[in-house]
Amino acid sequence: MKPQSVTARRIVAASCVLILSTTFTFAVAEEAPAPAAASPAAKQAIQVRQAIFTLIGNNFKPVGETLQGKTPYDANDIQKRTARVAFLAPLLTDAFPDISSSGDTKAKPEIWSNRAYFDRKLKDFQDHTVALAQVADKDKSGSDAFKTAAAAVGKDCKGCHEDYKAK
Ligand code: HEC
Repeated sequence: MKPQSVTARRIVAASCVLILSTTFTFAVAEEAPAPAAASPAAKQAIQVRQAIFTLIGNNFKPVGETLQGKTPYDANDIQKRTARVAFLAPLLTDAFPDISSSGDTKAKPEIWSNRAYFDRKLKDFQDHTVALAQVADKDKSGSDAFKTAAAAVGKDCKGCHEDYKAK
């Protein structure tokens, strides 16, 4: 009887250690953050950035098509679209916080590792959108001034995507 009960006590003790260590492992696993997962704040920042770009893209599209001669110059529409792009572009100044550098984004890490250069590109783009909106305010016929100003903005989109946006 005695050896058996010692064995039984050993089994119970061993089980307790096992249960405790298992519980401890789970507790640690729950508290440790998943290394690659973006925080809710990072996710939101990325979504806001992509939403701004979606609106910029949607509004610049008819301007680009007019520039390419695919659509006839519609003065009212061009004035409206270019004003929207000039309004939206400054929102990008706050759209690249450090926390948003990784996650579900196509923004390349070079934005953050070479920030001064990126900021200059962004500033050029913002200035060009203002210049374009000013031309479109006066221009009613698709002049050379419109073409030059719209082409400068289009070049900014392309240039920045080549350097800073993953495919
Ligand atoms: C200074 C750099 C820069 C400029 C200028 C720029 N873009 Fe982008 N664009 C980006 C980056 C970076 C992304 C990726 C954003 C992300 O995935 O977080 C992006 C993403 C986009 C997207 C995809 C948005 C989505 O839903 O994921 C569109 C559309 C877009 N840009 C259109 C444009 C257009 C049109 C212009 C010019 C009128 C423009 N961009 C100018 C850097 C730029």
